[in-house]
Amino acid sequence: MTAQIIDGKAIAASVREKVAGHVARLVNEHGVTPGLAVVLVGENPASQVYVRNKGKQTKEAGMLSVEHRLPDTTSEGDLLALIDELNNDPTIHGILVQLPLPEHMNSDLVINAIDPSKDVDGFHISNVGLLGTGQKSMVPCTPLGCLMMLRDHHGSLSGLNAVVVGRSNIVGKPMAQLLLGDSCTVTIAHSRTMDLAGVCRGADILVAAVGRPQMIPGDWIKPGATVIDVGINRIPKEDGKTRLVGDVDFDSAVEVAGAITPVPGGVGPMTIACLLANTVTACCRAKGLPEPEGLTV
Ligand code: GUN
Repeated sequence: MTAQIIDGKAIAASVREKVAGHVARLVNEHGVTPGLAVVLVGENPASQVYVRNKGKQTKEAGMLSVEHRLPDTTSEGDLLALIDELNNDPTIHGILVQLPLPEHMNSDLVINAIDPSKDVDGFHISNVGLLGTGQKSMVPCTPLGCLMMLRDHHGSLSGLNAVVVGRSNIVGKPMAQLLLGDSCTVTIAHSRTMDLAGVCRGADILVAAVGRPQMIPGDWIKPGATVIDVGINRIPKEDGKTRLVGDVDFDSAVEVAGAITPVPGGVGPMTIACLLANTVTACCRAKGLPEPEGLTV
């Protein structure tokens, strides 16, 4: 039996539609336009594509989109001064500093300079702590998108065995916190995990976030499991062009899993949709307005 394909593109479109509806209400009933500022330092080509897409989708949802593109020679002090300006700008409700930053900058210092209530990435140490203690926080966009897809597919996740492969601050660790919050039994596995295949085979929910193309084969997957593939890896094709693949070997996994996200068209579109959702949430909290339902955990 082949797995059901979890259509991230379609779920993301419905999140964006909800976001646009809330934005219209905020504008028409409260005279408030949610504003997102994205800061890009340097010329990283992948980051440039992400930032362009974020700006486009922010505007399409009816929000204010502000982009700051700085040369990679920018000093850390100048970046911190810009963040301070954005923290104090009442038209801006969300601030995102695109990672990775150039090597001469301390990313932790920069991220922790963002006002936590405007930290739509959920990377500020205060938001990490709030999420880890089950309190209201800004939730990192990629794990939030994964959770929305899992809830959409399963309804309740309570009691399921979830294995997250990857321990990054951006995906692996917050993903584990969210799954724990939904009453899964959670394992975080990584490159040093003994018997990684065996650990994966115990998963009812397998989230792959390692950044290694097609690392997880079908025979590591429990029959009927739900597989969320966070990887976006570009690999060469025989004709000299390239194609995108995930961290899971889709062709073998789709024969074993119960449901699986494709790459592209799975987690990717959900990340930006959740960034828009977080910006609306941050705006409502800043204005003391009721938070939109279904756009955060
Ligand atoms: N670089 C790769 N993913 C992300 C993300 O989710 N947020 C930011 N700020 N930078 C990234």
